[in-house]
Amino acid sequence: MSYPQIDAVPDLRAELISKAYGSIQVLKGISLHLRPAELVCMIGSSGCGKSTLLRCLNGLEPVDGGSITLDGAPVSPLDLRRRVGLVFQGFHLFPHLDVMGNLLLAPGLLRPEFTKEDTDYAEQLLARVGVSPELFNRRPHQLSGGQQQRVAIARALALRPDAVLYDEPTSALDPERTADVVALIRDRQQEGLAQIVVTHDMPFARALACRTIHLDHGEVVADAADLLTAPRDERTQRFLRACLA
Ligand SMILES: Nc1ncnc2c1ncn2[C@@H]1O[C@H](COP(=O)(O)OP(=O)(O)OP(=O)(O)O)[C@@H](O)[C@H]1O
Ligand SMILES: [Mg+2]
Repeated sequence: MSYPQIDAVPDLRAELISKAYGSIQVLKGISLHLRPAELVCMIGSSGCGKSTLLRCLNGLEPVDGGSITLDGAPVSPLDLRRRVGLVFQGFHLFPHLDVMGNLLLAPGLLRPEFTKEDTDYAEQLLARVGVSPELFNRRPHQLSGGQQQRVAIARALALRPDAVLYDEPTSALDPERTADVVALIRDRQQEGLAQIVVTHDMPFARALACRTIHLDHGEVVADAADLLTAPRDERTQRFLRACLA
């Protein structure tokens, strides 16, 4: 697979991102820095703003304040969507398209015609996430939850993004498939992609063994490499205890 070299992959930086829905201030000045090949886990209670933050980082949701830059330069929402892939919570596959169509739609939109190279690449990605060729012509409702989730991951990679954001990528997977996702994420890291993984799945988070951010009520309360093993902030300690209960 032809990914850019590590030094060609840009730095993703969010500075003081704020976002409200009506009177609810969901994100309250979030700053984070994602370096090439960096893997970051994000944890936090339901409703604390994790999915909203990912949608802002991939340009789907306009921010009210703050900035998002790639290599220090501001990026348009369209560019963000092209360069930062998002695997949605709940998959959001296109219901009227088969598996291949789901992977090829975005490259097809960006170029007038998708090429044999796009199709080959889509096949490689699907193989990599464990989707076998007999499923390529099925539509989402003809797939299991775990199969849909794997197609959603392959679709996010189909645009050859510089960074990938995963919103609870293992919620529908059994432990064996979860291990596949860990391997898949590690491979992307080797290729230089920056990645953020939102998860409630603590064994999965521990298997990723990476820098972890704890989001609470729209704020970053802790950001540390040893957050899961040696949490210092009291709110993080409480959250991790609740996860174990
Ligand atoms: N499009 C929207 N319109 C209005 N409110 C929204 C919208 N999207 C999210 N919210 C609200 O913003 C808050 C944060 O939601 P978000 O989905 O980001 O949380 P989350 O941390 O991803 O939660 P979960 O762990 O349950 O997925 C919630 O109060 C939610 O109701
Ligand atoms: Mg969410």
